[in-house]
Amino acid sequence: MPETISVNNELSLDEKYQLLGKQIHSLLNSEENIISNLANFTAALKQTFDKISWVGFYMFDGKKLYLGPFQGKVACTVIEPGRGVCGTAADMKQSIIVEDVTKFEGHIACDIDSKSEIVIPLIKDNELFGVLDVDSYTLNAFSEIDKKYLEDYCSFLISEII
Ligand code: SME
Repeated sequence: MPETISVNNELSLDEKYQLLGKQIHSLLNSEENIISNLANFTAALKQTFDKISWVGFYMFDGKKLYLGPFQGKVACTVIEPGRGVCGTAADMKQSIIVEDVTKFEGHIACDIDSKSEIVIPLIKDNELFGVLDVDSYTLNAFSEIDKKYLEDYCSFLISEII
C-alpha cells in the first residue's frame, strides 16, 4: 500500500524536495509496472507542491511523444519532436525552464491558464524515453533548485524504475 505523501509547508524548497525524494524512493518499486510507478510519481509531486498545476510524462515511441501518466487537467495527447517546450527539450536532450510561456515561441498551450513550465528529458542508454513536464499557474515558478531535484528524480527513474 503506497504511503501517504505529506510534506510540511514550512519547509524550504530544498527540504521539501529532499523529503519528497526519500518518499519517492520508498514509494516506487522496480517490481511494479512502469505505468503504475510513473503515475504515483506524478501524484506525489502534485500533492507536494501547490505551485504545480499539471505534471506528467510524454513518452517517446520512436517517432512522437505520447501523453503518459499525469495529474491535472486533460492535456494534448501527441507532441511532435521539436514542437513546444516538450518537443524542444526532447530534441535538445536538455532540461528547459520557461519563466513565461508567452515568451517561448511555439509553446503548446494545453491549459490557457498555464504561465510557466519546466521540462526534463529522460534519456536511457543514450535513447530518449520521454519527458517529464511540470506546469504552473504562477509566472516564473521553477528555478535551478527545481531543475536540480527533478533531474535527480528522473535519474532515479531511469536507473531504477524504467
Ligand atoms: N506546454 C507543453 C505541452 C504539454 S502541456 O503543457 C501539458 C509544450 O509546450 O510542450
